[in-house]
Amino acid sequence: MNIILIGPPGSGKGTQAKILEERHNMKQLSSGDMLRAAVSEGSEIGNKAKSYMEAGELVPDDLVVEIVTEQIEKLGDKGFILDGFPRNVHQAEVLDRMLEKRDRQIGRVLVIEVSDDLLVDRIAGRYTCAGCGEGYHDKFKQPEKEGVCDKCGSTEFIRRPDDNPDTVRNRLAVYHEQTRPLVDYYKEQGKVRIVDGEQPIEEVTKALEQAMA
Ligand code: AP5
Repeated sequence: MNIILIGPPGSGKGTQAKILEERHNMKQLSSGDMLRAAVSEGSEIGNKAKSYMEAGELVPDDLVVEIVTEQIEKLGDKGFILDGFPRNVHQAEVLDRMLEKRDRQIGRVLVIEVSDDLLVDRIAGRYTCAGCGEGYHDKFKQPEKEGVCDKCGSTEFIRRPDDNPDTVRNRLAVYHEQTRPLVDYYKEQGKVRIVDGEQPIEEVTKALEQAMA
């Protein structure tokens, strides 16, 4: 099955996509991770995307669509979890057309709901392992051994430059204005399931798995 995860910044899309990827032999496709990789490589797309990301604005559709569809095409028949894409109705329409041409489709659109107040707290405490990208949080998910990644043993961690309070507020506003309308778009296709993202991580996973069944 192919899945889309929709949710505001910090709602747990990346966290859950990684868990589902491991458990269900699917591939996580995170548009944010792809764009951050392009920025750090200094590619043409990365250079164009950088200022939008730093401001918490959406990167222009043509850049994102190119980078994501390329990855979908590489997958062959393997099921995928889209995390952060599509982000507006235009991107969803392009995705639908692209999948239709390849005889593929989205099975479920899973919406993770979390209140804005909680999101600011979650994003402010977030960091990832510089070695393998495993996600952690100052309060909610610390490594078992302080300062050492549980997964790869690295002792280096990074925080995202767009995780500062002003940019986070803008990212939330952009979500409500441009991304949330996607829920109605996919409701018309009968694919939407809403999940309470304010529960502990493992409870959210269970709810998502039930919604996928
Ligand atoms: P992107 O990377 O997609 O960021 P985002 O949507 O803002 O989402 P986040 O990655 O911040 O949060 P998340 O929902 O993955 O939460 P996480 O699992 O990390 O996009 C970044 C930028 O790229 C955009 O602003 C835009 O500029 C650009 N972009 C990307 N895609 C685009 C597109 N399609 N079109 C145009 N532009 C695009 O969790 C957050 C923290 O909370 C973690 O520390 C985690 O451990 C913790 N946590 C998770 N779940 C729980 C829980 N249940 N309880 C307690 N803590 C939890």
